[in-house]
Parts: sequence; structure tokens; C-alpha cells
Amino acid sequence: MGVNLSGRSFLRLLDFSTEEIEYMLNLAKNFKDLKRTGTPHRYLEGKNIVLLFQKTSTRTRCAFEVGGMDLGMGVTYLDPGSSQMGKKESIEDTARVLGRMYDGIEFRGFAQEDVEELAAKAGVPVWNGLTDLWHPTQMLADILTVQENFNYDIKGKTLVFMGDCKNNVARSLMVVCAKLGMNFVACGPQECMPANDVIDACKPIAEENGCTIKLTSDVKDACTGAHVIYTDVWVSMGEPDEVWTERIKQLEAFRVTTEVMAMADPSAIFLHCLPAFHDTNTTIGADIAEKFGVTEMEVEDAVFESKQSKVFDEAENRMHTIKAVMYATLK
Ligand code: CP
Ligand code: NVA
Repeated sequence: MGVNLSGRSFLRLLDFSTEEIEYMLNLAKNFKDLKRTGTPHRYLEGKNIVLLFQKTSTRTRCAFEVGGMDLGMGVTYLDPGSSQMGKKESIEDTARVLGRMYDGIEFRGFAQEDVEELAAKAGVPVWNGLTDLWHPTQMLADILTVQENFNYDIKGKTLVFMGDCKNNVARSLMVVCAKLGMNFVACGPQECMPANDVIDACKPIAEENGCTIKLTSDVKDACTGAHVIYTDVWVSMGEPDEVWTERIKQLEAFRVTTEVMAMADPSAIFLHCLPAFHDTNTTIGADIAEKFGVTEMEVEDAVFESKQSKVFDEAENRMHTIKAVMYATLK
């Protein structure tokens, strides 16, 4: 049976089959080819989408905006301060209003329940642009980047997530790897391991797809022979500033260094969803350097700037993959 995602929301990858995820990845590859060759693809002309952000963003917002415009759609952006949502109007009422005007809604926020409520009440597809629990659009970009670097042969390859393995990105990577037959390793301290519910959900999926899920605090064991080394910020959006002190202590041993990359397979790539703290050229980076004397956090600048680092291809792929999600669900 063919894949048909028309009218579906995109809230978390656990809701999608392997075949459906592969379908979106193939679409994304096609959209990338169209963009690269300058071939117009205004397939959704006449439609309109709205982007709701309760947290800040560069990549996700721009990918939805440019992706939407390339597909011929009208795009409205509502930042955290400029809609009534939450303060004067419930999520449910907001959903019912926006669903009358728009063909699709992107939401980035805190609670996963909020994006789920929007989807339940809006009557149009809702796309999760990141919540505290999941970051599903990021996953498609990450996997497209892995595919591009391993000749579209990713089954059986190993992806290691280093650092705060309980965060939205690590949890989502565990799901996408299990769905697509990639081995997933969470490498971090015991206190930062993913919650049991995600592990319990992913283990049978991994087994079905012939791959494994491993949790370890042993960097050498995790990274030896790995194909993808992935990391993310040590403190995620929405977490209080006070956690930096504890997190730096917990995660310093899990920084992605040139030594870590040397343990991996010679063909290994480095990925990061970005933004990254690889130097002190940001206000937070400079502040942390002053307070704790740490000038590179989750990744060494030498790794970030190395040939193995594919982080800007990955960032570009946000746009091609988000286009695929919008097209698949709106066409
Ligand atoms: N990776 C990612 O989601 O980036 P933004 O926070 O800039 O959207
Ligand atoms: N874990 C990070 C991802 C940012 C794209 C956060 O939630 O802030």
C-alpha cells in the first residue's frame, strides 16, 4: 500500500511507521534536488500556514518560513510575545481560531500536551517544531545528513549521542534510529539517561528492525567504531540557569573531543542540531567561560570546525525535510 500522510499532524516519530519516515526522507531528497537546480516547486500555492513560537529559534523558524514560501504558501510568524495564546486565550481556543484561517500550524513550545491539544482541536495538520519532550523535524534532517554521508545505506550503522541523553533531541534520536535500523548509543552520566518510557517504547521497535539500543557511561565503549557522533547543548531551553553548575560537572567527561572522534570509525561524521557552544563567541559562552573557566562545552572547536563535522549540511537539511513534512501532510 502506498504511503498517504495527507491531513496528518507531525507530533512525534513514535506515531509514524518506518515506511512513512522513509517516504518523508525521499521527498526531502527530491526537494533538495529541486532547490539545487533552481526548479520551482510551488505545489501548495494558495495555502497559508502559521508558525507559533513560545521559545526562540533560528533554524526551525527559517526552515518553515523559506520552505513554506518555496512551496508557494503564505506564512505568518507569531513570536512568544505577540499572540493571545496562553495569556488571554487557551490553547484550545487558539487552535479553533487558527484552524479556521490556516491550512497548517507549526508549534514550538514547552509542554508536549500543548502541541497535542492544538492538533486535536485545530482540524488542520499541526507540526511539532520542538517541545520539552520531542524534536521530530530535527530528526529527518539528521538522518538525511547521515544518508548523504553513507551512500543512503544507514541500516546497521551506529549513532552515539554524547551528553544530556535525557533531552528532547536524544530521546527523538533513539526513536528514529530504532525505526530505521540504526544502532543507538546514549553515552552520558547515569543521572542524564533517557526516561524509561522512551527506552521501553524503543526497544521492541529496534528489535523488530534488527538494531540495538545501548546506554553507557563508558566513552570508549560507546564511541569505538561508531559512524555518527552527535551532541547537543548541556542545558536546554526552558531549564533554569541554575542547572549550569551541576550540568558542567556532570557532562565535562562527555564532551566531543578530537580523541573521541579518533575512537570512531574513520568514516565517522560529527552532528549537532545547533546552536552549539564550541567557543566563547556568544553571550552565554562568554559568561560560562568567566564563571567556570570552560571555553568549549559539549564539543571542542577543533571538532566543530573539522572535515568530519557536517553540522551546516544538517542545518540546511532542516529546510528540505520540513518542506517534505509540509508537502506530505498538506497535499
Ligand atoms: N536545531 C534547532 O532546532 O535550531 P533552532 O532552535 O535555531 O530552531
Ligand atoms: N535540546 C535543545 C535543542 C535545541 C534545538 C533545547 O531544547 O534547547
